[in-house]
Amino acid sequence: MSRGLILGIESSCDETAAAVVERGARTLSSVVASQITTHATYGGVVPELASREHLRAIVPVVRAALAQARTTLDDLDAVAVTSGPGLAGALLVGITYAKALAFARGLPLIAVNHLEGHIHAVLLDERQKSTTEIDVPAPDSSTGEPALALVVSGGHTHLYLARPANRTWTYTLIGRTLDDAAGEAYDKVAKLLGLGYPGGPWIDALAPFGDPHAVPFSFAQIKPKLHLQGKAPRTKAARTAPIADLDHHFLFSFSGIKTAVLRYVELHHMRDEAQARIPRMLALSRLPQTREEALALCPQPTLDLMASFQHAVVGDLMKKTFAAADSLGAARILVTGGVAANRELRTRFTNEAGKRRIAIAFPSLALSTDNAAMIAAAAWPRFLARQFAPAALSADPSLALGR
Ligand code: KG4
Ligand code: ZN
Repeated sequence: MSRGLILGIESSCDETAAAVVERGARTLSSVVASQITTHATYGGVVPELASREHLRAIVPVVRAALAQARTTLDDLDAVAVTSGPGLAGALLVGITYAKALAFARGLPLIAVNHLEGHIHAVLLDERQKSTTEIDVPAPDSSTGEPALALVVSGGHTHLYLARPANRTWTYTLIGRTLDDAAGEAYDKVAKLLGLGYPGGPWIDALAPFGDPHAVPFSFAQIKPKLHLQGKAPRTKAARTAPIADLDHHFLFSFSGIKTAVLRYVELHHMRDEAQARIPRMLALSRLPQTREEALALCPQPTLDLMASFQHAVVGDLMKKTFAAADSLGAARILVTGGVAANRELRTRFTNEAGKRRIAIAFPSLALSTDNAAMIAAAAWPRFLARQFAPAALSADPSLALGR
C-alpha cells in the first residue's frame, strides 16, 4: 500500500529546500539550504546569484532530504514543486529538476503555489500535533467555517479566506499590499540602519530594548478606489494578485513607513552612525540578547526608532487582519510567512485573539520562513484529488492564489 510520501521542492527565492512529508501530516525530513551569505553583501536577493546557487544546491539538498527521511526515490508517491510566485530563474531550477525526476520515475508531478504552501505550513504543524489520521483538510472542516490567513513575508502581505472544499482548499483574496511587503520594509529599514540581512530577525531582536512610542509612526488610511485609478505604485508585490474588487479597508501599504524612517534618520543625523555599525555587525556571531549587547551595537535613539517601526507595522497588520476576520465571520486566523516568526507580532496577535475570543495559529518557527515541507503538505490534498501538473509546467513569477 502506498505510504503517501510526497517529495516537496522549493526554490522560489533564496532558499533551496526539499522535504519528504507523509500524507500531508508528518514531516519525515525538511532540508533548507539558505543563500543568506551570498546575498548579504548586497543587502538583498540578487536574482542571477540566486539561480546559480539553486543549481549548485538542488541535487545535494534533495539527496539529503531523502536520506534524512530514510526513503529512496522508489518509496515516493509524487513530486511537488513550487511553480510561483517568485523569481523566474530561481523557480525554473526547482521545476526543471522536479519534472525530470517525476518523468524518469513515472511519478505524478504536483504544482504548488508558494502562498498556498505558507498557509499549509500552519495546517501541517497542526496535523503533526494531532494523533488522528487526516486525509481531508482538518481545522475547520467540522464546521465548514472558513479561516482567514495572513501571509506576511519578504515578498507578500496578503489576506486570504481559506475554505476546505471537496478534499482540497479554495482561497479568496481579501486584501494585500499595494506596494512593499511587510518583510521588505523590515529588510529595507534594517539596511538603512546598518543592520544585517535579512533585517527581520535583527529588528525582532533589538526592538524590545527600545521605546515603541518614541516615534509616532502612522499609517494613512488607504483611499477607496485610489488603487483603481492607476495611482498605486507598481512593485513586485503588487503584481501577484488583482486588487480591483478588494475592500480598501483590507489593503496594506508599507513603502510610506520605510520613507518615514529614512527621513527620520536623515533629520536626526543617524546615517553616519548606521554606516559605522556595518563592520561591527559583521563581526557578531549571534543576534544581541541582552540590553548591554543591544546598546553596544546601537545607541538608545536607534533602538527607539526600531521599536517604534515594529510597533507600528505590527499594529497595522493586526488592525486590518482582525477587521477582516470580523467582517467575514472567519472561524479563526492563521498567520504565516517569514514575518510571522516575529515575537512582538506573535504576542500581540495572540493577546488580541484572546480578547476577541477568536482562535489563532502560527507555524513553528522553522516552518514560518521558506521551506519545502509546506510545499509537500499543500500538495497532499491535490494528490488525493488527482490534480496533477501538465508536462509543460513552467514557472509563473506572478502566479496568483485563488480568486
Ligand atoms: O517567508 P520568507 O522566508 O520568504 C519569502 O517568501 O519572502 O520571509 C522572509 C522575510 C524577510 O523579509 C525577513 O526579514 C522576514 O521574513 N523575517 C522576519 C523575521 N524573520 C524573518 N521579520 C520580522 N521578524 C522576524 N523574526
Ligand atoms: Zn515565502
